[in-house]
Amino acid sequence: MVLFVRVSAILFIANYVYPSLAGRTAKRADDFDILDWIDPLIGSRNGGNVFAGASLPYGMAKAVADVDGENTGGFSTDGSRITGFSALHDSGTGGNPSLGNFPIFPQICPQDDLNQCKFPIGGRSTHYKNDSVKAEPGYFGVTLENGIKADMTAAEHAALFRFNFSGTEHGNGTASPLIMLDLTDLWASRQNASISVEAEVGSSTARMRGNGTFLPSFGAGSYVLHFCLDLTGGEVKDSGVWVNDRAGTEPKELYVTRGFNLFYLQAGGFVRFQGPIDGPILARMGLSFISSSQACTNAETEIPSPTSDFSTLVSTAKDAWRKKFIPIAIETGGVNDSLQISFWSAVYRTMMSPQDYTGENPHWESSEPYFDSFYCIWDMWRVQLPFLTIIDPQTQSRLVRSLLDIYKHRGWLPDCSMSTCKGWTQGGSDADNVLVDAYVKNLTGIDWELAYEAIVNDAENEPREWSIEGRGGLASWKRLNYIPYLDFDPVGFGTNSRSISRTLEYAYNDFNLATLAKGLGKDTYTKYLSRAGNWQNLFKADQVSLINGSDTGFTGFFQPKYLNGTWGYQDPIACSPLADFCSLTSNPSETFESSAWEYMFFVPHDVRKVIELLGGPETFLRRLNFFHQSGLADIGNEPVFLTVYMPHYAGRPGLSAKRAHDYIPSRFNSSHAGLPGNDDSGAMASFLLFSTLGLFPNPGQNVYFIIPPFFEAVSITNELTNNTATIRNLNFDKEYKNIYIQSATLNGEPYTRSWIGHEFFANGGTLELVLGETESEWGTREEDLPPSLSVGGEEGLEMGLV
Ligand SMILES: *[C@@H]1O[C@H](CO)[C@@H](O)[C@H](O)[C@H]1NC(C)=O
Ligand SMILES: *[C@@H]1O[C@H](CO)[C@@H](O)[C@H](O)[C@H]1NC(C)=O
Ligand SMILES: *[C@@H]1O[C@H](CO)[C@@H](O)[C@H](O)[C@H]1NC(C)=O
Ligand SMILES: *[C@@H]1O[C@H](CO)[C@@H](O)[C@H](O)[C@H]1NC(C)=O
Ligand SMILES: *[C@@H]1O[C@H](CO)[C@@H](O)[C@H](O)[C@H]1NC(C)=O
Ligand SMILES: *[C@@H]1O[C@H](CO)[C@@H](O)[C@H](O)[C@H]1NC(C)=O
Ligand SMILES: *[C@@H]1O[C@H](CO)[C@@H](O)[C@H](O)[C@H]1NC(C)=O
Ligand SMILES: *[C@@H]1O[C@H](CO)[C@@H](O)[C@H](O)[C@H]1NC(C)=O
Ligand SMILES: *[C@@H]1O[C@H](CO)[C@@H](O)[C@H](O)[C@H]1NC(C)=O
Ligand SMILES: *[C@@H]1O[C@H](CO)[C@@H](O)[C@H](O)[C@H]1NC(C)=O
Ligand SMILES: *[C@@H]1O[C@H](CO)[C@@H](O)[C@H](O)[C@H]1NC(C)=O
Repeated sequence: MVLFVRVSAILFIANYVYPSLAGRTAKRADDFDILDWIDPLIGSRNGGNVFAGASLPYGMAKAVADVDGENTGGFSTDGSRITGFSALHDSGTGGNPSLGNFPIFPQICPQDDLNQCKFPIGGRSTHYKNDSVKAEPGYFGVTLENGIKADMTAAEHAALFRFNFSGTEHGNGTASPLIMLDLTDLWASRQNASISVEAEVGSSTARMRGNGTFLPSFGAGSYVLHFCLDLTGGEVKDSGVWVNDRAGTEPKELYVTRGFNLFYLQAGGFVRFQGPIDGPILARMGLSFISSSQACTNAETEIPSPTSDFSTLVSTAKDAWRKKFIPIAIETGGVNDSLQISFWSAVYRTMMSPQDYTGENPHWESSEPYFDSFYCIWDMWRVQLPFLTIIDPQTQSRLVRSLLDIYKHRGWLPDCSMSTCKGWTQGGSDADNVLVDAYVKNLTGIDWELAYEAIVNDAENEPREWSIEGRGGLASWKRLNYIPYLDFDPVGFGTNSRSISRTLEYAYNDFNLATLAKGLGKDTYTKYLSRAGNWQNLFKADQVSLINGSDTGFTGFFQPKYLNGTWGYQDPIACSPLADFCSLTSNPSETFESSAWEYMFFVPHDVRKVIELLGGPETFLRRLNFFHQSGLADIGNEPVFLTVYMPHYAGRPGLSAKRAHDYIPSRFNSSHAGLPGNDDSGAMASFLLFSTLGLFPNPGQNVYFIIPPFFEAVSITNELTNNTATIRNLNFDKEYKNIYIQSATLNGEPYTRSWIGHEFFANGGTLELVLGETESEWGTREEDLPPSLSVGGEEGLEMGLV
């Protein structure tokens, strides 16, 4: 059945009944709500690390239950125990759990004895009822095994929690509920913190306010966060502070630091309400990076009446999310519901982070937007930010402006940021790629001269600490045209590893700089274009690769090279899933988080040259196939993404379509364990989105590779121009037998290129693809291949330009 699903104007076929989602009743089309197709729990276990709770699009406040299992994003459906409820999180990140500051927790002290309440995390943590988890955009609810029901919603900088005690064993009308606050975060990184409790006995409101200094989960320095918690719902019975497993009603203030051997003291405040209480206890949590009075103001402004605002906040959040889906429409062609749930949920996840902290920047004052949780740009530049460029170009433009404002005030573009701190740099200067992608796609409102200055700064000046900004080894880069293995670099300091991946990334950064320089009419572009070819200096043509002693039969890999020009050696399969994982600190190697096998394909601006060096299209395709089938490819990490679409450069666009179907839905699906790796703030989501939309970007270049969408038709309306771009499959079948393009037309005219530029989105139009069961001649001719720098020389660059 063909169903045209458009959020703004829903066309439906009379009597069409929507198939029910798991556990929900069937809905009629006139009840259609896009939010019914969103499952925030996708990726909530198996390492997806998604934030599953309540948030506005790009909101700072993110409320959810935190667990003691997979808690990087706060909650997980892994069945672990709930440790608290907190209102700041990141989404999809790896490594240390992020934020989760100042968790609150509801309890009833047995026998109403304060000393029988469990304050430290080990004692208080409680399992949740598996079937009680309810996650929707703007809403999260869960019931603890002891019967206490918690649900929550979020405004911009404040969250509202409800604790319902009526289902508890002790909630028999006499018990006095207690809400405690813990001066900690998910990672237990607190350095020091203060709290004061203002709660008069008999009063109907209670307030806790304070602050703490914490460490960023993947970065340098520390940050101060302030809170203001207001509790209502009963009469205050008593209040005070707790330290370890003892609590007392005096004093009402507390200041904790790290003590002997950095001992981590567990401490915080509590308020108890006189039982019986009629309804739930409401906890309004305001947060601020500026001051606790700003935290209170945020809460008072955004949630003026905690006792009556809950449902309004939920519906405001839902409406804000619904608006975000307006630019996209799909005609499903009858495909599996599960793919639609994956699709819409992925769109949702692309707008969790970065987070809009405008007005909450403690470091400088500015009228420009301030976004945080670019966590990290190494993950985001390839697909997530390009996705926002097509569906939310106004926000993407504000994101770019915030990067430039960071450059202006800190002197460097960030490569990663979280909790207002500088995050660790993973490879090259990834923000350069973001700026230039915005440039070639004509985003508006951006100071391109400032962008040029910021990128030149990355390319020319080495900071003392290049682990948090800029690039290392620039003297060698300029003198030798590669990053040497075991470089001598007395200028700046960073993790002196990753010489291969840094060489490749710097080369692509310099290509992007050349693109911008050329566009702005700067003659420096030739210099940067020449540096864009530096990757070739680490290509060792006779390098072979063995797996368990047998030759894979492929020759030519990137290898590390010493300062003196002598080759070093790194096994080409090292750092692949067949060997050990390599990160900054664990097993640091000459390639970052991926093998020399995978990095052989990371030359986004000159894939045709790579094909040539590897022996021509046939050998190249055999190698690509081996890579994907041998276990060497890691589809759960970002560097792999482009390899799926490389057959386009070898004149075999059909093989790219085939490969995309190999991975979706088998590795990207709608189960709670349905992501192959950390979502990384929406990167896995965006791989799925671009693949199923049928246009995949090569960011920094004005290029999208064409494959057939996974739906019968898809449309995207550009917010800046109001033009709609539609891609329609003819001969579409929902079993995906016909996944090969036989011929195409653009606005009725034959279209033979296997790629298209961003003008398609800006100007709108209709791209019609005629599908068949086998590969065809379409997109295979030399002149139909996507542009590549050294094929056609400057024409290659020209083609990638605006
Ligand atoms: C809850 O779910 C987890 C994870 O699937 C499982 O390990 C646990 O046994 C479940 N608990 C119950 C009571 O079913
Ligand atoms: C509290 O939970 C009980 C059942 O446990 C339910 O009947 C009641 O409606 C809930 N109250 C609110 C305000 O949700
Ligand atoms: C009612 O709650 C009080 C306080 O927790 C407890 O002492 C008492 O045993 C409970 N009574 C019943 C019948 O559960
Ligand atoms: C809290 O810790 C931070 C980081 O160690 C330190 O800079 C700050 O001075 C401390 N604040 C107080 C009040 O001790
Ligand atoms: C944190 O709160 C304490 C107690 O109110 C106050 O003395 C201190 O100045 C605050 N720290 C910051 C960084 O605002
Ligand atoms: C839809 O997809 C789900 C999950 O991949 C699968 O279990 C189910 O069999 C599919 N249904 C159909 C009708 O293909
Ligand atoms: C290599 O050999 C080991 C031990 O026999 C085996 O476990 C592993 O799967 C092999 N690896 C590959 C990639 O064939
Ligand atoms: C170059 O340097 C490496 C590492 O120090 C050393 O092993 C190699 O022998 C040197 N090559 C020459 C030709 O000196
Ligand atoms: C869903 O995706 C996960 C993660 O990639 C994978 O482990 C699982 O096998 C997939 N499930 C199905 C039914 O394809
Ligand atoms: C796009 O349409 C909206 C809503 O109709 C309108 O407010 C806006 O001005 C239009 N923008 C352009 C660039 O035409
Ligand atoms: C960007 O704007 C220029 C000048 O108006 C235009 O020629 C070009 O096609 C636009 N590019 C895109 C990707 O829309």
